[in-house]
Amino acid sequence: MTRHHGSSLAGTRPEGLEGATVLVTGGAGLIGSRIARRLRELGAHPVALCTMDAYPPKIYQELFGVVPGSVVPGDIRDAALVTRLMQKADYVVHAAALADVAACTRLPQDAIDRNVSGTQTVLSAAAASRRVRRLVFVSSASVYGNGNPDDWAGPEDEHRSTRELLGSVYGQMPPRFGEERRRRPLSVYANTKVFGEVQTDLILRPAGISYSVVRYFSVYGRPQVIKPGSHSWVVAWFAARAAAGLPLHLNGGGHQVRDFVHVDDIAEGTLRALTEPAADGRTVNIGTGRPTTIRTVADLVAGHFPGTRVVETPMPPGDPLGGCAGTALMQRVLGWQPGITIEDGVARYVRWLKATPAALPDWLRQEAGQSA
Ligand SMILES: NC(=O)c1ccc[n+]([C@@H]2O[C@H](COP(=O)([O-])OP(=O)(O)OC[C@H]3O[C@@H](n4cnc5c(N)ncnc54)[C@H](O)[C@@H]3O)[C@@H](O)[C@H]2O)c1
Repeated sequence: MTRHHGSSLAGTRPEGLEGATVLVTGGAGLIGSRIARRLRELGAHPVALCTMDAYPPKIYQELFGVVPGSVVPGDIRDAALVTRLMQKADYVVHAAALADVAACTRLPQDAIDRNVSGTQTVLSAAAASRRVRRLVFVSSASVYGNGNPDDWAGPEDEHRSTRELLGSVYGQMPPRFGEERRRRPLSVYANTKVFGEVQTDLILRPAGISYSVVRYFSVYGRPQVIKPGSHSWVVAWFAARAAAGLPLHLNGGGHQVRDFVHVDDIAEGTLRALTEPAADGRTVNIGTGRPTTIRTVADLVAGHFPGTRVVETPMPPGDPLGGCAGTALMQRVLGWQPGITIEDGVARYVRWLKATPAALPDWLRQEAGQSA
């Protein structure tokens, strides 16, 4: 079923980007490449800076649409390169990161090198720039951890069925994270994002450079593909396993809650944070405000692949029970809210996966072959 939020906020577009040069770090990755594409549609000139080492080269070329000349291959820790690119930038979206929670846990030094030292290099160059009008730092809902007891929303009419479903897990409604709540990182990844949020303010405010921070909730949508050893990105995982004829793993029974935001909405929200005057100095969630359990995602995916089996597996350490976005500030500051529902987004993703054999990794095909 296709269902959009009846949004009185829809229909407008980010203003003021036509002709602007926008430096997008991590600009060849899933989200960065989508932001760059949207910038081109809006008449801006994106400059994507990326190491392109998060996926095999084939994924960047065939799925993310990276063509020679569309990306500056390089590292945000290269101060001379970043300074040179920053001198020509009117705006900056800082999205480069070791973006995989499990990889940050396995390789904490790499996480700190890229997400902490790399972020400092970007911020120093922006602070020294005489041209940058605003920088958006890309953060994550992981900074909330499991939240505080007082994050838990009170009685509301919406999402009643989810509340009832989750009653046995949480004892009440899952948390709705408001931006002003205290950060409680539960992972190395989340801790690097806390650093980036605080440091953005500490470096850019005194330099008089406008900034905003966006906290993405769970991002999904084509061309997201799974990474070996990761448990992030459950829509892509479930769809890939179902397409390969493998059972879906419900860690901890799949009672965890996430707020799933389509990558198209992520790009749109980020560009509004880049341009809306009211977003200056603000930290905003980018989420739908709608909680969805992992079990619900499994059911949605399985609906597109008849005969799919589901098995319960142990909860990975550090996996938060999760929650959904408080969206009041986002709506007020960005004048916008996401429009793509999880039902529609899963259907779109499955359509794309079925039409894109390269999206199913060889190692997963081998696992399917071995278990046949
Ligand atoms: N995908 C999600 O669910 C999600 C949720 C919250 C926040 N985020 C954040 O959004 C941003 C983009 O994530 P994504 O999902 O597109 O991940 P991604 O891995 O697809 O893209 C990140 C890109 O950054 C590049 N990169 C890494 N280190 C770099 C460095 N030192 N210099 C230059 N480039 C570097 C990688 O090569 C990769 O192409 C990240 O900051 C991530 O933490 C993502």
